Amino acid sequence: MKNICVVGVGYVGLVTGTCFADLGNNVVGIDVNEDKINDLNRGVMPIYEPGLGEMVERNVKAGRLRFTTSYPEALQDAEYVFICVGTPEGVDGEADLRYVRAAAEAVAQHVDHPVVIVNKSTVPVGTGDWVADIVRSKQTKPIHFSVVSCPEFLREGVAIADFMNPDRTVLGSVDQKGAEAVAQLFLPLRRPIVMTDLRTAEMIKYASNAFLATRISFINEISIICERLGADVMEVAQGMGFDKRIGHHFLQAGVGYGGSCFPKDVKALAYMAQTHGMHPQLLNAVMEINDFMRKHVIFKLQDMIGEVKDKKIGILGLAFKENTDDIRESPAITIAQVLLERGAHVRAFDPVAMDNSARVLPQVKMCQNSYEVADGVDALVVVTPWNEFKQLDMAKIRQSMKTPLLIDGRNIYEPSLMHELGFNYSGVGRGYNGTGNR
Ligand code: NAD
Ligand code: UGA
Repeated sequence: MKNICVVGVGYVGLVTGTCFADLGNNVVGIDVNEDKINDLNRGVMPIYEPGLGEMVERNVKAGRLRFTTSYPEALQDAEYVFICVGTPEGVDGEADLRYVRAAAEAVAQHVDHPVVIVNKSTVPVGTGDWVADIVRSKQTKPIHFSVVSCPEFLREGVAIADFMNPDRTVLGSVDQKGAEAVAQLFLPLRRPIVMTDLRTAEMIKYASNAFLATRISFINEISIICERLGADVMEVAQGMGFDKRIGHHFLQAGVGYGGSCFPKDVKALAYMAQTHGMHPQLLNAVMEINDFMRKHVIFKLQDMIGEVKDKKIGILGLAFKENTDDIRESPAITIAQVLLERGAHVRAFDPVAMDNSARVLPQVKMCQNSYEVADGVDALVVVTPWNEFKQLDMAKIRQSMKTPLLIDGRNIYEPSLMHELGFNYSGVGRGYNGTGNR
């Protein structure tokens, strides 16, 4: 049993802290957001993440997990401090490190015993050394500490499973003892641990996200070619994936990647390359294709119904992916914004992301369910592949629409079935002329 402090209880910090508590450690989560801490202390979850609420409750009850806004309280007995604060996109795509700086300064000012500081936030290469400099400069007296990079690879929606069963844990440090101490925390998971230096660990995180984003942009580009040439990208991806060197993962064509990380991390990596005199042409292409996929939905709509001005458009799904309420960089939000700018009347439904969306899209009518969205619309666009959208009564949906135009931005429906039901259906990269017709 170790004493762990988690700084920042967002998607990563809350999952990390709760899972460490579940493994039997004593965990204190500190956050500067008082509302979030008050909610957690009242048993209200600040985010939607399947299974997390029950796990938080269980560990709070067992006395292994608590939350505070007080740094001195959170750091009192901490042996490990996990920095899990946000690193959003800054100017020109550079990662904004202001929260990491604030966290490092606070830790330096309030820790009065040796600790291992673990960077879990995704940070540019070299940040570990920078954090060490900040801590050293802000300490009131010299106290030993190590800085270890332990990048996070969890996916929202399946975060607990990803934490408990990681493909690998990466640990980077110039201080072997510090890295070994962090490795102790992960040993109960019995999964591979990669030990390396600080900068390499930081780069592994960016390279991993950039590679996954590249696969998505690759298959999206193939999907556009499929649409023109009359091939089906779903079958192409499946056929490619059986090759062990390729595999099936991250080859789902769609409206492009969104979320709090791929967009900002690919940009941040390109920024790092550019500022060091390089021309990151593959990364630039990945981003360009991703931007295009969102526009492609609008182009399709316009091709099929003409100008969207005064048209009633329904959107199914607002979260950047299924099983999360996170709308950061969500393709659905961008698509809704463009439609609104062009004078369309937009209505939408998402099983869990409507409250978050209503804040940024006050002009969109948030509906009670998918059927209400479809009622009287000129077109329906599926943007998030929630399971419940796959099981809708599509005949009923078809009947209630003004014109039966269905744009399936995630290929969740079978084209031939949709045609049989009388939809004017368009998936992504599916068959003849992109209509799904064979
Ligand atoms: P988030 O915005 O959900 O949470 C960050 C939290 O940090 C917020 O609650 C905020 O109030 C708090 N915070 C900010 N400054 C603070 C300070 N000085 N002291 C204490 N708390 C502070 O962010 P997130 O999605 O959890 O991401 C955190 C980091 O992890 C980012 O670097 C991100 O790139 C990386 N990451 C995220 C995911 C993911 O799925 N969300 C996965 C892997 C890596
Ligand atoms: C992603 C990575 O998968 C995690 O390993 C990483 O830790 C995390 O980013 C991060 O650094 O924050 P996440 O953003 O939660 O996780 O979600 P993914 O499942 O990777 O999906 C990202 C986006 O790509 C979503 O918009 C999703 O719809 C899209 N996607 C994914 C596709 O368009 N096609 C695919 O084949 C897979």
